[in-house]
Amino acid sequence: MARLTILGIESSCDDSAAAVVRREDGAARVLSSVVRGQAELHAAFGGVVPEIAARAHAEVLDHCVEAALEQAGIGIADLDGIAVTAGPGLIGGVLSGVMLAKGLSAATGLPLIGVNHLAGHALTPRLTDGLEFPYLMLLVSGGHCQFLVVEGEDAFRRLGGTIDDAPGEAFDKTARLLGLPQPGGPAVEAEARAGDPARIALPRPLLDRPGCDMSFSGLKTALLRARDAEMAAAGGLTRAARADLAAGFQAAVVEILREKTRRALDLYLELAPARPAFAVAGGVAANGPIREALQELCAERGVAFSAPPLALCTDNAAMIAFAGLGRLAAGEADGLGLAARPRWPL
Ligand code: KG4
Ligand code: ZN
Repeated sequence: MARLTILGIESSCDDSAAAVVRREDGAARVLSSVVRGQAELHAAFGGVVPEIAARAHAEVLDHCVEAALEQAGIGIADLDGIAVTAGPGLIGGVLSGVMLAKGLSAATGLPLIGVNHLAGHALTPRLTDGLEFPYLMLLVSGGHCQFLVVEGEDAFRRLGGTIDDAPGEAFDKTARLLGLPQPGGPAVEAEARAGDPARIALPRPLLDRPGCDMSFSGLKTALLRARDAEMAAAGGLTRAARADLAAGFQAAVVEILREKTRRALDLYLELAPARPAFAVAGGVAANGPIREALQELCAERGVAFSAPPLALCTDNAAMIAFAGLGRLAAGEADGLGLAARPRWPL
């Protein structure tokens, strides 16, 4: 088919999203992308509450779909298929999306395609920057942290990742420990600008270990201890100590990501890709110093660097729609038996 229009639905964490993507003459275009976050619903609990998330998705997802169709200027009859995140994620939320998608598919006869949320993230640089296989990808957010060599639409090689927390989680926890607002990433980054990254020494867990695995939970614990020591010494958290702690924490994350990316690039370049390319995606990719460090590294290695626009590399449904296009074009579909999967490794 020369032209394919697909609806995407995403609800695996705390964003309810719907989007319409159209592929025409080989080029894919996002016609609309609607994201309704739930941050304020979970704010009082210090984390995403699965029950609350599932209920909120069930309440707003159909409005997201309506808005996405309206913004795309099309009706449901103009669609060729429906793609929905079938996992991995919080099962209640994933189920909300899958049930809605099944209902739409049953009512319209449109093919239903279950998409792996991580594949959605991993394929986004093809949508935004036209990267060619194989490329190296660092997915780094509040929920994810892994290196993937993306070799095909359904071929991902995981080189390593966090063995405990994701860096975004560590940024958020750091913000809480320092009395900064949520989401913690931007707040810690801003605070770090005024600080001395070298005054308070924080560990770089697993840095000396071979391979691309990372660890961030020890860093959090070390930060807690360092903060308590600073507070005990000064009778409270001074402005300067807060900035130094933020700067020290961020410098540790930058160094871990830089060193592990260096190793991931070595492994990737062994594949001798014709057009070597690296993409960083996820909320943490918004961090200036992290982005600069990775960009510099890529320049040294002659690898093209790309960082998709934030709206498409944090959770959204355009990436789900885009990831579903290949199977739709191939005439494949999952049907109403599609299962929601809390775990689904790539
Ligand atoms: O991709 P995302 O929106 O959601 C998922 O985790 O799936 O990522 C959100 C995470 C939060 O933990 C947030 O603190 C972090 O990305 N983040 C940042 C920055 N902006 C957002 N971390 C570091 N520096 C930033 N500027
Ligand atoms: Zn995600």
